[in-house]
Amino acid sequence: MTATEQAEPTASFSRTVSLITGSSRGIGRSLALSLAAHGGTVVVNYKKNEDLAAQTLAEIEQRGGAGTMVQADVEQPADIDRLFDVVTERYGRLDHFVNNAAASSFKRILDLGQHHLDRSYAMNVRSFVLAAQRAVPLMRDGGRIVTLSSYGSQRAYPTYANLGTAKAALEAWVRYMAVEFAPYGINVNAVNGGIIESDSSAFFYDVPGMPPLEEVLAKVPKARMGTVQEVSDVVLFLLSAASEYVTGQTLVVDGGLSVVAPPFYADAMPPLSLPPRPGPGAAGVGPDA
Ligand SMILES: NC(=O)c1ccc[n+]([C@@H]2O[C@H](COP(=O)([O-])OP(=O)(O)OC[C@H]3O[C@@H](n4cnc5c(N)ncnc54)[C@H](OP(=O)(O)O)[C@@H]3O)[C@@H](O)[C@H]2O)c1
Repeated sequence: MTATEQAEPTASFSRTVSLITGSSRGIGRSLALSLAAHGGTVVVNYKKNEDLAAQTLAEIEQRGGAGTMVQADVEQPADIDRLFDVVTERYGRLDHFVNNAAASSFKRILDLGQHHLDRSYAMNVRSFVLAAQRAVPLMRDGGRIVTLSSYGSQRAYPTYANLGTAKAALEAWVRYMAVEFAPYGINVNAVNGGIIESDSSAFFYDVPGMPPLEEVLAKVPKARMGTVQEVSDVVLFLLSAASEYVTGQTLVVDGGLSVVAPPFYADAMPPLSLPPRPGPGAAGVGPDA
């Protein structure tokens, strides 16, 4: 497609091959199903939940897509190699690599052991770079690399230092990769999520001492969690032809979480507290106001 042609946002997935790490559940699974609904082929990676990966693959096929599932622990370089060997043998090419799987230890900094630091780097940062090194030669017609990040890359909150610093490193790698891979027609971007309804956010809010989720959400402008679909839709945009001129960026999907700061509107009292959402036709609301 030339720069002046209008992009049809998702029309181009029918002949694409996408590898999504951690697509047995959550955001990765949601993205796999969206690609499948547009006729895409998806490599479903998982670590231990073979049954959930098989369910994702079955739903991909029901929606008109195709794919394969590959068990691989991306913390292990040999597993990353095996994962890409399967992609190479089965498809011989790749259009999209989505670095979605993540795991870390949720502890205060003084409680982090050396193995926690080493494992978080290996799992979240090293895996991205090693996988991108294998993905690029397979993207002979250009392609897209997207990594998932989170608001802990920029903001500090309890127990998230080990993963937040890894996410910050991913966002920096995105900028370097975007520049070095641009000559190959490969765009590299990150999607930075806020509080998203999934197994991992349920685990996080179960850590002893964590403030209750409802109290936290009250401070988020959208006053709710995001859905995995709302995040995967933005990843889908970055994989689509419509984002052809977007590279090296981090797109934020957080319901406004990262634009507020103390003193929070949610804690303000009259006359500064925000009024309840007005209904249609209320005085001062609408086009005539
Ligand atoms: N949920 C949130 O609130 C939130 C917010 C911002 C950003 N994010 C980011 O979005 C991404 C996805 O999060 P999620 O909440 O959708 O995740 P999730 O529901 O917890 O699912 C995690 C996925 O990663 C896989 N996985 C875990 N360790 C792996 C390993 N070592 N090797 C390969 N696969 C592995 C899991 O496979 P098994 O099923 O086999 O375990 C599963 O498919 C992550 O990068 C996360 O940091 C999430």
